[in-house]
Amino acid sequence: MSKIILTGDRPTGRLHVGHYVGSLRRRVELQNSGEYDKIYIMIADAQALTDNADNPEKVRENIIEVALDYLACGIDPEKSTILIQSQIPELTELTFYYMNLVTVSRLQRNPTVKSEIKMRNFEASIPVGFFTYPISQAADITAFQATTVPAGEDQMPMLEQTKEIVHKFNTVYGEALTEPNILLPENEACLRLPGIDGKAKMSKSLGNCIYLAEEPDEVKKKVMSMYTDPDHIKITDPGKLEGNTVFIYLDAFSKPEHFERYLPEYANLQELKDHYTRGGLGDVKVKKFLNNVLQEELEPIRNRRHEYEKDIAYVYNILKKGSEEAEKVAAQTLTAVKDAMKINYFEDSELIAKHIAKYQK
Ligand code: TRP
Repeated sequence: MSKIILTGDRPTGRLHVGHYVGSLRRRVELQNSGEYDKIYIMIADAQALTDNADNPEKVRENIIEVALDYLACGIDPEKSTILIQSQIPELTELTFYYMNLVTVSRLQRNPTVKSEIKMRNFEASIPVGFFTYPISQAADITAFQATTVPAGEDQMPMLEQTKEIVHKFNTVYGEALTEPNILLPENEACLRLPGIDGKAKMSKSLGNCIYLAEEPDEVKKKVMSMYTDPDHIKITDPGKLEGNTVFIYLDAFSKPEHFERYLPEYANLQELKDHYTRGGLGDVKVKKFLNNVLQEELEPIRNRRHEYEKDIAYVYNILKKGSEEAEKVAAQTLTAVKDAMKINYFEDSELIAKHIAKYQK
């Protein structure tokens, strides 16, 4: 069986380091591993519109930003297909048929949708499109017969619903769809990278993000202001690692070679952690180290972005070509779906012959 990846992001803002460790970095590794037959990366503008109906300008402006961030991270348009969701009408058609396989109460139980409804104060007035976006996401995934969806933990409920839809479809109408699996980040820190204020998640509305495209002095300022252990006041005080943003970021970003380069007094992260918990290690020193690590990781990303920024027309062309290629694949799946559902009347000579016979005397 082919190994196919599909994943994507809503274009509601620039991507940040949470997106990077949560999924982007992994996508580039998977792309370069050569183990996958096809990789589709989707800019989910139609999904973004489900809770931004009154602000289409925001979505429109951020498609290019997300595309630039993808390319900056090393998504290679020769190896991966980047597409814009709204340009594939087949996805909407698939969604419409899948809607019959999902109940309202099942959607109401989706924990990610539940918490998003709370966050957006939608309780009394949930847009129907927003409420049903997990179904449209199942269409995104199945249209490309994806086997693997690299994504964050918050996407687990979407994958569960997709599997249910696939199972139901294949049972009711016959095998036409592939069951996908989620591929989660490898470690805890990457799974849920907190904002620089230590709050649960990086989010634009909380103003606690480090963006991928951020300039070096801005990155440094943010690192130096990070939340650590509020009880670690004097250098000699023993420090706590739990909830300590700086150490969580080091878990997500640091590699042994960073120690050789920037902090040779320590062999590895464990030694640094041990010293911190023992006492005698100041926050500033750890923050300076994290700054070096982040700067090293972000510099090539920023440079590549600046290169692509010089040729925006080329980037739009990548998106157009990718969307066209993706539409062909989605159209094949839609045909298979309609065949399975027997809503292919004009191709069904048996049906036509039967009805001719019925009225022939
Ligand atoms: N829901 C995802 C997010 O909020 C975006 C998305 C849309 C997606 N369709 C997808 C992710 C399909 C993985 C697979 O970021």
